[in-house]
Amino acid sequence: MSRADCLARDVTDPLAHARDRFSLPNNTIYLDGNSLGAMPKAAPAVLQAVAAQQWGNDLIRSWNTHNWVSMPQRIGGKIAALLGAQSNEIVATDSTSVNLFKLLAGWLQNVQMSDDPARCFILCERGNFPTDVYIADGITKLFTDRFEIKFVDSAAQLDAQIDATTAIVMLTQVDYRSGQLHNMAALNAKAQAAGTVILWDLAHSAGAVPIHLNADGAKLAVGCGYKYLNGGPGAPAFAYLAQELHGQFPSAIQGWFAHAKPFAFHGQFNPASDAARLLCGTPPVLSMAALECGVDTFAGIDMQQVREKSSALSALFLQYMEPLCAQYQFSLFSPHASELRGSHLSYAHVHGYAIMQALIAQGVIGDFREPNLLRFGFTPLYTRFADVWDAVAILKEIMASRAYEASEFNQRAVVP
Ligand SMILES: Cc1ncc(COP(=O)(O)O)c(C=O)c1O
Repeated sequence: MSRADCLARDVTDPLAHARDRFSLPNNTIYLDGNSLGAMPKAAPAVLQAVAAQQWGNDLIRSWNTHNWVSMPQRIGGKIAALLGAQSNEIVATDSTSVNLFKLLAGWLQNVQMSDDPARCFILCERGNFPTDVYIADGITKLFTDRFEIKFVDSAAQLDAQIDATTAIVMLTQVDYRSGQLHNMAALNAKAQAAGTVILWDLAHSAGAVPIHLNADGAKLAVGCGYKYLNGGPGAPAFAYLAQELHGQFPSAIQGWFAHAKPFAFHGQFNPASDAARLLCGTPPVLSMAALECGVDTFAGIDMQQVREKSSALSALFLQYMEPLCAQYQFSLFSPHASELRGSHLSYAHVHGYAIMQALIAQGVIGDFREPNLLRFGFTPLYTRFADVWDAVAILKEIMASRAYEASEFNQRAVVP
């Protein structure tokens, strides 16, 4: 497909209109929406209004008049609509890491009380995102060695390991490095048959692939607000608790916003009847306002169309990269088949870090992940087919000229 073909495809793209919902700098091809989503055009004015009018003028009255107090539930409800859940099953709150802690600790508390000592393993992929593993490791210490992490090396192994010794499975639906996508429905069914559950980390899948939490039998999930949901740097995350667990799920962090009536100021903790029992403290209103703008960028968007465009963009990138792989020793680190991956592609290269810095200097923004991976995210709401063509053309120039050898591209920054 030539560049002209890409431009033609952008014209007929049914999601082309969504790009106008974002503010993107000129001369930049942004292929990192899987790490930090682009800024919604609406965000600056909304933030200005929340700061100047609601905070500056209306002051504390805004908790009621502007419904600040129900932001975690309201935004959670919008995320729920996107992920195939009911509105009282998701709250927007805290970070993904903190939400992992709350759901993992809450579930394990129930396992411990069920008096089945054989259920002792937290199953987890060895290559899972580090925070997931750190949180699980910390929790095993809090439960004084009642539980132990059991690592598996592949999805195939995972299936065979879910059994009556499994206390819980922790899985990231789309792997942060390879982009490998798990089959949520099949694995949930497997877990259910073994009398356990999967705690899903949707950081790289919410807003990237169609998700049907209820229909696919998911019980527990967390996810990021700042990646595909476009909620802004450090945006609050979300937590999902299936309705059937609402009455029996402990609030592992018993903060006052998890109380059924926070403003009754009762001396005793009595948890909210739904996913609000996963809240903790006062919502960060300014960050919540930005997150809501991000979630609203999905208004009227068909996630099936998002998936189709994501697969088409990635397929094109794969195709354009093939000659570069042969000539310059890039190797694909992601599954080749589009049905097996989320919305990003990773390539290994011995000079991966420097090449990515050279790309960024030329306006093609992806990112680098240890040990040697260049990661490119395709966000169908604002990435165009011509962007894919241009990005690979620029990479080709960088490889041909060896521009990445410049010393400035070989100095490691704190955030890669
Ligand atoms: C899979 C996954 N889980 C969790 C996190 C961390 O989320 P947070 O910083 O909100 O705790 C990330 C961040 O990139 C991630 O990729």
